[in-house]
Order: sequence, then C-alpha cells, then structure tokens
Amino acid sequence: MTDDNPPIRRLADWDAETLLGLADEYDTPLYAIDLDRVRENCERLRAAFPDAEVRYAAKAHTGRAVLETVRDAGVDVECASAGEVMRALDAGFPGDRIQYTAVNPPARDLDYVVDRWREHPDLTVTAGATDTIDRLRERGFDGRLCVRVNPGVGAGHHEKVRTGANAKFGVPYDRAAETVESARADFDLVGIHAHAGSGISGDDLANHRELVRRMGDLARAVEPLEFVDVGGGFGVPYREDEPPLDLDAVAAATRNALGDVDATLAVEPGRYVVADAGVLLTRVNTVKEAGGATVVGVDAGMTTLLRPAMYDAYHAIRNVTDPNGPAIPVTVAGPICESADVLCEDRPLPRPARGHVLAVGNAGAYGYEMASTYNSRPRPAEVAIAGGTAELVRGRERLTDLTALETEHHRTEPTDENGTEP
Ligand code: LLP
Repeated sequence: MTDDNPPIRRLADWDAETLLGLADEYDTPLYAIDLDRVRENCERLRAAFPDAEVRYAAKAHTGRAVLETVRDAGVDVECASAGEVMRALDAGFPGDRIQYTAVNPPARDLDYVVDRWREHPDLTVTAGATDTIDRLRERGFDGRLCVRVNPGVGAGHHEKVRTGANAKFGVPYDRAAETVESARADFDLVGIHAHAGSGISGDDLANHRELVRRMGDLARAVEPLEFVDVGGGFGVPYREDEPPLDLDAVAAATRNALGDVDATLAVEPGRYVVADAGVLLTRVNTVKEAGGATVVGVDAGMTTLLRPAMYDAYHAIRNVTDPNGPAIPVTVAGPICESADVLCEDRPLPRPARGHVLAVGNAGAYGYEMASTYNSRPRPAEVAIAGGTAELVRGRERLTDLTALETEHHRTEPTDENGTEP
C-alpha cells in the first residue's frame, strides 16, 4: 500500500481553502465528491481482491460522474432498481458489467430490466424469491440468473441495515439448493448471492465470515457456478479515532471462509467506494444558547443528510471558517421541523458563529442519495472534484422544481367567504 493511497481520508485531510472556496462559489448546502478518491478506493479494492469481481453497489451514490469513474477504474456495478440500471447504462457500463438485484421488484422495474436485457443479453439478474423467478419467466427472461440466498446471519452498523437474517431478503438457506437446481432448467444459472448488511467492522466481521462459509458450502452443493457473490458491507471509520478496516485481512479471511470453490468470488461494496470521497458543506445561520446548550442552526438537515436522524449515525464535523476558536459543546441542528433533525449533539467544536462554514465528513455514501424534499426544501447542489478542479455536477433544486410535477387540476384561484374570486 502506498502513502498516496491511504486506507481512509479523514475530514481533517480536506483542504480548508478549497472547501471555503466551494461554499462561496456554489453556496450551501453543497455536496462535494472527489473523483480521484473514488478511483483510489476502487484501486484499493481491486488490489485487495485481485482475482475477485468487484461490483460497486450504486445505491451508495448514483451520480453519473461517480459511475463513470467506477466504470473506468474497472469495477462493475450492482443496481437495486430500474432507475439504477438506467443510470448504469447511461454511464456507459456494458451489459456484462451490470448486475440487477431485484428486491420485491415492482412490475414496472421488471418490465424495464427485461426490455434492457433484450438489448444487452449479458446483463445478470439476481432474484431473491421463487415468485420473482416466476415473474421473470413470465416475461420471457431466460438469461443470466443469480439466486439471492438468505444466509441466516446478518451484520452491520445498525439494526436497520442488517439484511442477512431478515426474511425480506433472499430465498431461505435450507431451500436455496433446490431453488438453484430447479432454476437451471429455464435460465442461464450463473451465481448465488448473499448480503449480510452494511457498515461491517469489528466484532461483526465474524458474522460476515460465517455468511461466506455458508455460501461456500452452498456453492459446493450446487456446482457448477460462475460466481459466488458474498455482498458488500465493508465499513469505514466515521469517528475520528476509529481505525480503518484492514481490507487485505478481510479479503484473506473471506477467501479462507469460502474454502475451495470452482467459481469466481464477487463482492459488492458501496460505502467503501464513496464514503470518504464526499463532504457536505453547510453554513451556520443561527446560534442560540438554550437550556445550557449551544444550538447551532445550519442550512443542511435531515433532508440533506438523513443518516444521523435515521441511524443515529456519527459524522465528523469541522468548523472550516474558524478552526482555532475555543471548543464548546454544540448541538448542530438543521432547518426541518422535527426534533430528529440534528447532525450532532453536545459535540465539542470551535465556537461556530453566524456565517461560518461547517464541513461534515464521510458524506459521499448514502448522503445525496437519501436526500429528500420534506418540508418543501429543495435538494442541494453537488460538485465533483477531479485533478484539483471542481465542476458542478448536480444543480441546486429550485423552489419551482418542488411543484413542477403537480397537475394544473390543483391550481384553483382563492375565493373569499362568499365563494367569489377576490
Ligand atoms: N449489496 C446489496 C445487495 C445491498 O443491499 C447493499 C446495501 C450493498 C451491496 C452495499 O452495502 P455497503 O457496501 O454500501 O455497506 N443507507 C444505509 C445503508 C443501506 C445499505 C443497503 N444495502 C446507511 O446509510 O448506512
């Protein structure tokens, strides 16, 4: 591993002048994604898993610039919906580098993907229920099929992202062999798949190894297979003092747990590719002392970055404008009318003042992607940085975009109490 490709980029490593310049030029809230770092993360993954197929789980960040970077870095793509398949094709991935993982797929998704498969017959579809397999057959699909298995063991940073033992995902392990064998008759059965969960590190790694071990057993029982996909989930350190995952050790343990199988190993990391490549910039608008706390109001909230509200996720925060002020414990709160709308509570930060720019770290994964327009708040803009130059890649949503899809039907003129137009 070389020094110019460290296992993690910390929030402190981002250049302050660059961040302040971006906030000034593009306004806040603003996501910035460093494509060079995305490429480095892809390279580190490919080096750790040299003879495996690495597939980027696009759901972590579907921006076109990211997908193109991943494509050029030789990493394939895993898509969770028709929309993600459309984005992957738009970004120039050939069909043989696209996996579509269907989770209770709406008919519209299956129709779209099967249509695209007719144009790109090398595309692979992963199904996690015999019912989904039937629905593919009904649509005339007889291409590359992978069966998603529920391995009965989950892992991940939060209860809400542990999929491995959740009945929603995959064919039950004890029926997996039979499902694979019966699908062989009608499809080009190429692989088996399982995903433990997201944000796996520390003690959870043992659970991940158990999942891989079970997938190895299943693979030996249903050979021949082209690949065994053991999912994504590699964690990144969100806390400043957390050590990075030892990717080489995880890769070695994965190989070991899989054992001898005559099939290619596949992994599907999302977070690991983009998390530390992204930062969210937000500006302080209101500072208030209340109930013994200092509440710092900013222009990014749970609609911009949902992870703290949804998973109690920790994201590093830095006062970029004034890094040397006296540190005081602050609650950083967004502009949404919900008490969950806080980015941190009681966090020591150099005293923020109105107009200061704060940076939120590890915002590249599941950041913009989970943004919403709740409270009729337009979604933020995004810039991509490559070779030290920033370029706007997603414009800031405007207020008028919020109503753009509402039909004319709802636009009646106001009336006074007599029912006449004023
Ligand atoms: N493969 C499958 C089938 C998945 O469902 C996922 C994530 C991945 C791969 C990639 O997992 P990763 O390497 O990114 O951990 N919104 C949550 C994460 C949800 C992940 C859902 N599935 C968060 O912000 O923590």
